[in-house]
Amino acid sequence: MKILGIESSCDDTGIAFIEDYEILANVILKQEHKKGVIPEYAARAHHQAICDHAREVIAHKKIDLIAYTAGPGLIGSLFVGACFAKGFSYASDIPSIAIHHLEAHILLPYWMQFNYEKLKHENISKLEFPYVCLLVSGGHTMIILVKNLGEYYVLSRTLDDAVGEVFDKVARHIGLDYPGGPNIEKLAREKTADGEFVFPNVMHNRDEFSFSGLKTAAIGQIDGQSANAEQKANFCSDFQNHIANLLVNKVERIYLKLRDDAQFCMEKLGISNVCVKDFVISGGVAANETIRAKFNQLAQKYEMQMHYPPIALCTDNGLMIAALGQLLFQKNGPSALTTKIDPAMPFAQKVTQS
Ligand code: KG4
Ligand code: ZN
Repeated sequence: MKILGIESSCDDTGIAFIEDYEILANVILKQEHKKGVIPEYAARAHHQAICDHAREVIAHKKIDLIAYTAGPGLIGSLFVGACFAKGFSYASDIPSIAIHHLEAHILLPYWMQFNYEKLKHENISKLEFPYVCLLVSGGHTMIILVKNLGEYYVLSRTLDDAVGEVFDKVARHIGLDYPGGPNIEKLAREKTADGEFVFPNVMHNRDEFSFSGLKTAAIGQIDGQSANAEQKANFCSDFQNHIANLLVNKVERIYLKLRDDAQFCMEKLGISNVCVKDFVISGGVAANETIRAKFNQLAQKYEMQMHYPPIALCTDNGLMIAALGQLLFQKNGPSALTTKIDPAMPFAQKVTQS
């Protein structure tokens, strides 16, 4: 089955083409938004990118299914991808499927395992349901039990900002361009000392995340105008370490709950308390090497298996959209085909709340 995947929810245009578990094309076009994403500009840039690149991806290939991001995301950006997908679908009489952006991030490592020999990626290994996914992106931060395809349970979520957003805002404060995460990671490599900057341990005894207070505290620690390069590098390193520890501690807390609270597992989740060993870290922030290293340490402490998408596929891409289109179509057949678009597409449509 040949599937075209179109991603245009925010500022990266993704156009991918797969045949079963093989990647035939995967084009990712990153937009430049130095001060943060400007929605109007983002929509125009998606239009240009799709006009420039879709033809080369789909040339001479028979397409069986078109998968496109239907939400959540910026309305203008979503419209560009959805209108292209639907127009192409009507004109060529090819079925199309609306994809939930978060679900695609969560399921990508599951899809990739079927081709891990070919993809030769060391972080891709056997992954079975149920697994737990820490989704860390620019718009979302949550820990989800992935019971099965289409069966999700939110175990933890942020009460305010997303972790990627905090990276972006803190980076901007010290004069780094958007997206802030990779720029903070890069500058942190030049650090000369550890522990100069100390951050609050927000919500350490709760299942939920909260980042807005941490963001304010971080911004208050350093004068973005007058700090020198060395101070900024040390700040980035301490901040990144703090975020990594915070994410790891929260996943450890949830892991212990799943391991030890048999009643919660059985009554709320319908699973046995010993069965979750696989953990996926996905979304843009999962590209961070310090965060990955700390999660690998956690995996060694317990009997956990960590799974990460390849770095280039942590941030938004069309491959994850095509991949989920395939999984859903395989499972549900033509009833999987939907034609919606919703900038605030609630994950609750897809999940049970804890
Ligand atoms: O998943 P994504 O591409 O878009 C959303 O769905 O939101 O995530 C983008 C976010 C941005 O906030 C960006 O700063 C962050 O991911 N990010 C990183 C890194 N690469 C991207 N954060 C920390 N370290 C990175 N290496
Ligand atoms: Zn995303």
